[in-house]
Amino acid sequence: MCGIVGYIGKDQAAPIILDGLARLEYRGYDSAGMAVYDGEKVNITKSVGRLKALSELTHDGATMPGTVGIGHTRWATHGAPSNVNAHPHFNEKETIAVVHNGIIENYLALKKKLTQRGYHFVSETDTEVLAHMLDYYYKGDPMEAIIKVLHRVEGSYALGILFADFPGELFAVRKDSPLIVGQNGEGCFIASDVPAILRYTRTVTYIENQEIVRLSKEGFHVYNVDAEELEKPSVTIEWDAEAAEKAGYEHFMLKEMYEQPKTVADTAGPRIRGNDIVIEELGMSEEELLKVKKIHIVACGSAYHAGVTGKYVLEGMARIPVEVDLASEFRYRDPILEEGAMVIVISQSGETADSLAALREAKERGFKVLGIVNVVGSSIAREADNVMYTWAGPEIAVATTKAYSAQLIALYLLAMKFSRVRHTVTEEEFSEMLGDLRRLPDQIELLLNNKNRIQRFANRYIAAKEVFFIGRGIDYAISMEGSLKLKEISYIHSEAYAAGELKHGTISLIEEGTLVAAVATQSSLYQKIISNMVEVKSRGAFVLAVTCEGNREIEKAADYVIYIPITNRFFTNSLAIIPLQLFSYYVAVGKGCDVDKPRNLAKSVTVE
Ligand code: AGP
Ligand code: GLU
Repeated sequence: MCGIVGYIGKDQAAPIILDGLARLEYRGYDSAGMAVYDGEKVNITKSVGRLKALSELTHDGATMPGTVGIGHTRWATHGAPSNVNAHPHFNEKETIAVVHNGIIENYLALKKKLTQRGYHFVSETDTEVLAHMLDYYYKGDPMEAIIKVLHRVEGSYALGILFADFPGELFAVRKDSPLIVGQNGEGCFIASDVPAILRYTRTVTYIENQEIVRLSKEGFHVYNVDAEELEKPSVTIEWDAEAAEKAGYEHFMLKEMYEQPKTVADTAGPRIRGNDIVIEELGMSEEELLKVKKIHIVACGSAYHAGVTGKYVLEGMARIPVEVDLASEFRYRDPILEEGAMVIVISQSGETADSLAALREAKERGFKVLGIVNVVGSSIAREADNVMYTWAGPEIAVATTKAYSAQLIALYLLAMKFSRVRHTVTEEEFSEMLGDLRRLPDQIELLLNNKNRIQRFANRYIAAKEVFFIGRGIDYAISMEGSLKLKEISYIHSEAYAAGELKHGTISLIEEGTLVAAVATQSSLYQKIISNMVEVKSRGAFVLAVTCEGNREIEKAADYVIYIPITNRFFTNSLAIIPLQLFSYYVAVGKGCDVDKPRNLAKSVTVE
């Protein structure tokens, strides 16, 4: 995620760009910059940290005169937040400037080719390859250069591009990352999202994938990659600014739940290469992977729950012993780490104090740490020996959804990598897994579109006092996350239990009407979990079952069934969590809770 704003018209561009970027701050960022044509050349100013720094540096844009420009607030994915890595990026002749939202998946190969052709790179970003490729293909026609570049880059992008030779024009392109265009009597705009330009115009045009926009102060034209002009409808935005930040969703949490298909695809996509998994940032050779005898996963909250899923997946798929610790326990229990141990710290924010302390504890004992982190350049990302980013973009809601889902994907990829080098799965099984992984985004989308049925069911439990989530194996792991979601946003007490453990005490709490959510996605355990469902039903419970399509047998034991699409047995948590997130969300909304900012909670617990 990040923010892109561009302007070309009668007015000074820099103040408009700064104002627009400020209205995209909710999209999260770590640095910012602008490029403006001053009548002779393109000038770039960049800054690290808050957008205010850029405003102060440019005296609210006064130091960057000109009526055409592009601006960017960066959410780093490749290269830590820094002045050099901030956008816009220049070609060496400083005649082409580009801002980018997304990930260029094949940037390393492109960077290698450009370097061989004598290009010099100054930043660590993937984006910079775009500036040099545009330079390489530019022979006087911007559209021709842009189209040639689009045929060679892979990944996601929304681009704003300035050509010094064409100061009366601004160019923009979209693939997978959002981009809109607007126009009023003074000029034309490009932006990542509506809030940036709402004060200038409510009439916007949504740009679709592989569409190129050519803007001038009089208007704009949209083309496809064959340079054929397209007729594009415009829409009038009725939302107010706040609603626009949530893209029309009532809460950031719901918006982020609906971003899960994209974050799952963004986290997996760049690491699936043909029929293999490539995790460049792992920093471990196959020989080193083979030497790993045990994995210690350390995290807090939902990240810990992802770690528990990781245990079942890594042990089940790659047959590596895995121990999962709460970071707040790990750091004080004098853990036993033996030769051949690998430590993984999972953290969305990368700033959780307990997780950071656990990382330091492991490193002090001489063990390498792999971070699975969402925020590039965060403390855990910086101090880990290697980092596998989750590329979920900024997560605003305190209750994590999309970042958690991305953590699961990172763990699946890791397990598949280990299983490949340890030959614990056949080529055929591996190939099937890749297919299942690629299908997850669409399957998540399907479940999200089932929200009305879940909302109706949730409305029955707004007054609930207690809810239990039970499961066996990997379904126990997802029960933990389902339970936490309900607790943290609806304030209803809930408990996750290993289904086989209920009878050892907790079942005494089951009363008439107690809701028990039973997660049953493991066919080898269906009969066992059905017995547990019968156990609690016979004591008065109302049983909600989350199970795989086709498992009709469960209907004899459940009062209400939610089916999830069929996927690899190791990946079912990624699907089962969707109805559980929706259930918790609608219960909390029904109770009138502050879903995005629940009481007593912080997005990142940076204290012990
Ligand atoms: C999850 O919904 C909570 N907000 C919380 O449990 C969170 O997962 C935990 O604090 C860990 O945060 P981190 O992933 O940023 O380290
Ligand atoms: N991948 C680019 C970078 O890391 C763009 C990130 C963004 O969308 O802000 O600079």
